Amino acid sequence: MTSTALPALDAHRLRADFAVFEDLFDGRPVAFLDSAASTQKPRQVLDRMRTFYEHEYANVHRGVYRLAERATEGFEGARRTVAGLLNAPSEKEIVFTRSATEAINLIAYAWGLDNLGPGDVVVITELEHHSNFVPWQYIAHRTGASFRNIPIDDLGELQLDALDSIAREGNVKLVANNLVSNTLGTINPVETLAAWAHEQGAIMVVDAAQAAPHRRVDVQALDADFVAISSHKLCGPSGIGALWGKRELLEKMSPFNLGGEMIRSVGLERTTFNELPHKFEAGTPAIAEAVGFGAAIDYISEIGLDAIERHEHVLVEQAMNALAELPWVRVFGPPPERRAGIVSFDVEGIHPHDVAQILDWEGVAVRAGHHCTQPLMTRLGVSATTRASFYLYSIPEEIDRLIAGLHKVKASLG
Ligand code: ALA
Repeated sequence: MTSTALPALDAHRLRADFAVFEDLFDGRPVAFLDSAASTQKPRQVLDRMRTFYEHEYANVHRGVYRLAERATEGFEGARRTVAGLLNAPSEKEIVFTRSATEAINLIAYAWGLDNLGPGDVVVITELEHHSNFVPWQYIAHRTGASFRNIPIDDLGELQLDALDSIAREGNVKLVANNLVSNTLGTINPVETLAAWAHEQGAIMVVDAAQAAPHRRVDVQALDADFVAISSHKLCGPSGIGALWGKRELLEKMSPFNLGGEMIRSVGLERTTFNELPHKFEAGTPAIAEAVGFGAAIDYISEIGLDAIERHEHVLVEQAMNALAELPWVRVFGPPPERRAGIVSFDVEGIHPHDVAQILDWEGVAVRAGHHCTQPLMTRLGVSATTRASFYLYSIPEEIDRLIAGLHKVKASLG
């Protein structure tokens, strides 16, 4: 079998699963090029959540009656699906959270406060989303640890030769990095960083929120210690994400949120905590959202993450080639072969918000702003960029519409 025989993804056919593309804006469907911010939801996910609410719903882990058992099975089944997506050794290592952001905060508070102190070094990169930057900066300040960043080069790729000098600054205890940059799409060498972190005796935290929707994430192959993902970026509902953590670390950690469900027994003097993963899941969880998260993983898995990755690669190449023809556009980040389906750019002399506003009049939806990566914006020497991002339902015609829209931007404001 040649590589051309690999199963391709038929985005035009998949679009039938997404009702939003039936809606017309000035006679045309939206050219939705903002999937890095959040993806659209297919009817398979929405139908599964509706069925769950209509026929399987009750609170979980509490009732002895059959409907509650059905609800618990739906919720725990979703946990097994998340474990499968990440190739986690056990579903007990999967903690449902509100988001990837909350997952990282959980590590920062429950691991960081107990394990960091003066003389220790927390290492992040210049490419991090604020959700994998601010918690570490805050916890480092609170514990007296140093906070150091791995710089990037002009292509937005990590400069790993900085690692030696960082290692000389103290006791490196934690390294945090995203697998795919939400702003530039850069695919980062997380395996290399994890190996370096472990040589230092540090743990490796991977923000895979922007990676898991687009490529395989195998926590064992990465040799990470913690991996955070979110549902809304992979066709699932918002309001739920997941943390995978190595069991021995999760077992030793203090709890994060406190309350019902996360306890084993409560007395006036003392409370003991539940086993994994429930120790980290206080209160009634986002039950139907978990089920929808599982349905979304089933949906993208059936299409195939390899096919999704190849599809985005074709689109990102098309977009970057077309943007390269526009001398008044500057594209940030690495070449297509080292990035996911994300392109950030600057239109000379025109603020990204104006660019996005005019593109919207053309029915093209892009994100303009700092993309929650202000340190990266500082490094790039801009306050904001315009960002187009693609997913399994994106089609080449939408990139043509983006380019035609940019010509209009230039004609009206350039
Ligand atoms: N993290 C999301 C983005 O990059 C919200 O747009």
